[in-house]
Amino acid sequence: MLEMTGGFGAWEPGRGLVLARAAAGEAEILTLAVAPAARRQGLGARLMASALAGAAARGAAAMFLEVAAGNAAARALYAGLGFAEVGRRRRYYADGADALVLRRDIVANTVDGDAAGRV
Ligand SMILES: CC(C)(COP(=O)(O)OP(=O)(O)OC[C@H]1O[C@@H](n2cnc3c(N)ncnc32)[C@H](O)[C@@H]1OP(=O)(O)O)[C@@H](O)C(=O)NCCC(=O)NCCS
Repeated sequence: MLEMTGGFGAWEPGRGLVLARAAAGEAEILTLAVAPAARRQGLGARLMASALAGAAARGAAAMFLEVAAGNAAARALYAGLGFAEVGRRRRYYADGADALVLRRDIVANTVDGDAAGRV
């Protein structure tokens, strides 16, 4: 069971999920993961679209997330969705990698996806 103030998400059983939360006009991606066998089929992008729609439905004007600097797949996905780097947290991860903080505007009515969490 997921119980978290302002939390929401979307998933395809056994294939992938996104968890996010929204509060005070801002939203944050907590987790995004697609199973290795299900990658490069557009699911990650659809899950992100659903999270952006869910955030818009909750009144958020911006979405934030953290990504490891060396995570080329995730960085390419987020760049394609219009996320831009707004900060860097040095040695944020246990392996010493930096985290990049990315941000994207959320403009109501211009977000693809389904606020109900369907992907
Ligand atoms: C990052 C992740 C969620 C992407 O999921 P996905 O379902 O494969 O992504 P999509 O198929 O929707 O890809 C959308 C676009 O992102 C980019 N992309 C995705 N994977 C990529 C890769 N391995 N290399 C380069 N670009 C990639 C491409 O532009 C891709 O479009 P294209 O396939 O038309 O070229 C997945 O690789 C994953 O779960 N990784 C491990 C967990 C993780 O890193 N999560 C993010 C933590 S912040």
